[in-house]
Amino acid sequence: MLAQRYVFVECSLAELPQFHWNKSLGLVIDAPLEAETDVQRIIHGCRAVPKINPGITFLVDQLARQYMVRAHALGAETIIPRPLQESTVFTVIDDMLVRARKDIWSSQFGAEAAGLVAGTDVLENLFQFAVSGTKLTQYELYDRGDTVIDTLADTGLGRWVEAVKAHHSQTFRHSLLVTGVAVGFGQHLGMRRDDLRRLAVSGLVHDIGKAAIPLSLLEKPGALTKDEVAIVRQHTTLGRDILLRQGGFTPEMIDVVTHHHEMLDGSGYPDGLAGNDIKDLVRVVTISDIFAALIEQRAYKLPMPNEVAYAHLSKMEGKLDMSLVDAFRPIAMETRLAA
Ligand SMILES: [Fe+2]
Ligand SMILES: [Fe+2]
Repeated sequence: MLAQRYVFVECSLAELPQFHWNKSLGLVIDAPLEAETDVQRIIHGCRAVPKINPGITFLVDQLARQYMVRAHALGAETIIPRPLQESTVFTVIDDMLVRARKDIWSSQFGAEAAGLVAGTDVLENLFQFAVSGTKLTQYELYDRGDTVIDTLADTGLGRWVEAVKAHHSQTFRHSLLVTGVAVGFGQHLGMRRDDLRRLAVSGLVHDIGKAAIPLSLLEKPGALTKDEVAIVRQHTTLGRDILLRQGGFTPEMIDVVTHHHEMLDGSGYPDGLAGNDIKDLVRVVTISDIFAALIEQRAYKLPMPNEVAYAHLSKMEGKLDMSLVDAFRPIAMETRLAA
């Protein structure tokens, strides 16, 4: 179950002391809590776990008082009872990772932390909405968009990109990167604050439809089949549906989510739009999106150096707005994703 969603290492309690914790965000313990000897083994194993490590989740046989008391005494932040349900396990562990990441961001990154937390808040809320129906108000969205813009103005794109790499979800990393690149581009183009704000929120939500696509396809380590490509492409229209249900998004943002894979020559999807039917805000996001995807590391490919990625964009004449691609050059040169 965990393998569908997380990168994790499995080990026995006896092996815990040898484990390297430096990049871990949490610990899930699945061990019996029946007898005092079980508890002693866990205490011994956990002694090796550094205090900075934020979360411990326990899987227990049932929600019996004796297990709960023991698990809490052992430092459990959360407890998941059996029989394990995928939705509960994912929600609890996601939550643990979110808290861990926020702690790390605020300790390692100064000024960027506020913008990153704001950006991931939007994504988390929207992704949850796609599953559960919790809403984010328009005011909250713009407020988060503002924080992202202020952060970028303060710290510059380079530091933002460096910090974004710390996120565990590929789709979140990508969305935060696209947002940073697009807002940096917008600032370079001299866009007004209102437009920048629209651009920030559009960047954050552009791939929101991926919340409705199985993770096994999004993070598949190899080429997708024709049928799988067709499913992944649905993230555009699924995203539009999510925003319409959520409400509070302007038509321009819905346009970005639906049409960021359209090409000027009509070869894109989902509607095969061409020329002037593709609006400026969409064009800016499309260029930022393609560039970000090229320089990112994915399960199936290595990252491309930024100069090579930019050369790739400049060969897309006919498909992309070349005056924008020209203007994008300094942003591309500034945006490096060192491994
Ligand atoms: Fe997309
Ligand atoms: Fe994208």
